[in-house]
Amino acid sequence: MNSQNKIILITGATSGIGLSLTEIYLKDGWTVIGIGRKITLLKSLRDLYLEKLIIIQCDLSKKENIGETFKNILEKYPSLNSFIFNAGIYKTDDFDTFTEESIEETFNINLLSVYRSLLGIRNRLKEPNQSLIAIVSSVAGYRGLPKSISYGPTKAALINLAEALKVDTAKYQVDVKLICPGFVDTPATKINDFEMPFLISSEKAAKIIKKKINQKGFEISFPFPFSFIMKFVRIIPYWLYFKKISKLVNK
Ligand SMILES: NC(=O)c1ccc[n+]([C@@H]2O[C@H](COP(=O)([O-])OP(=O)(O)OC[C@H]3O[C@@H](n4cnc5c(N)ncnc54)[C@H](OP(=O)(O)O)[C@@H]3O)[C@@H](O)[C@H]2O)c1
Repeated sequence: MNSQNKIILITGATSGIGLSLTEIYLKDGWTVIGIGRKITLLKSLRDLYLEKLIIIQCDLSKKENIGETFKNILEKYPSLNSFIFNAGIYKTDDFDTFTEESIEETFNINLLSVYRSLLGIRNRLKEPNQSLIAIVSSVAGYRGLPKSISYGPTKAALINLAEALKVDTAKYQVDVKLICPGFVDTPATKINDFEMPFLISSEKAAKIIKKKINQKGFEISFPFPFSFIMKFVRIIPYWLYFKKISKLVNK
């Protein structure tokens, strides 16, 4: 279909990967509905793309906001049927530091907001038009990692959710994509105090996602070879995994 007629919704469009995705879709002639809270950077993009960029300020951690927001958006944009659920927060909690608040916040934004958004768009996805749901998880969801006691489980759950959705929506015209990035240089990863292997820019990440999202295949995992290494780590037996990971942690 001609990209001039295409419209896509991106959550977490105000920063990092979501902002780069927004820019790349706009450059390609798409209309983008961008959701986030701190909309300053999106506003400066609107100066360039005018009515092609629709900015929706919404705190996705508040469950009461999500249903109403999606209801209004779907009413206003009847042809909208492409959705990238990208919003997320990254905390480096571990067993000694996690709090109930940090777990609740991470689960609310990273995981529950996706379920709540899906409830909002479920009827739209059942319509007999081709639609797209892309869920941004992470290679950090492949296995339990150090300092990932709140973040990792949300990303593992998103992988499982995307798999379940793929199966359940096979009877509709829904293309489900699972996106698992490795390290991407964004405001979120600035908190890391270690050298991030195979780090790529958010522009590069967005380019890969946009290219692969319309291709066949379920998972978009990058960058190679980091995704390959992490996939290998996922399948090794527990005894070997724990041996290797404890060596890494105690280095
Ligand atoms: N960077 C990486 O290395 C990496 C690797 C794997 C996966 N990921 C995933 O990629 C996604 C984007 O991450 P990023 O690195 O680009 O992070 P980022 O630069 O911090 O961007 C996160 C986005 O999520 C939005 N967001 C957070 N809390 C929100 C809330 N309560 N309501 C609405 N929007 C909210 C932020 O918007 P506001 O601040 O405006 O609210 C922002 O637009 C996340 O799901 C992350 O887990 C990142």
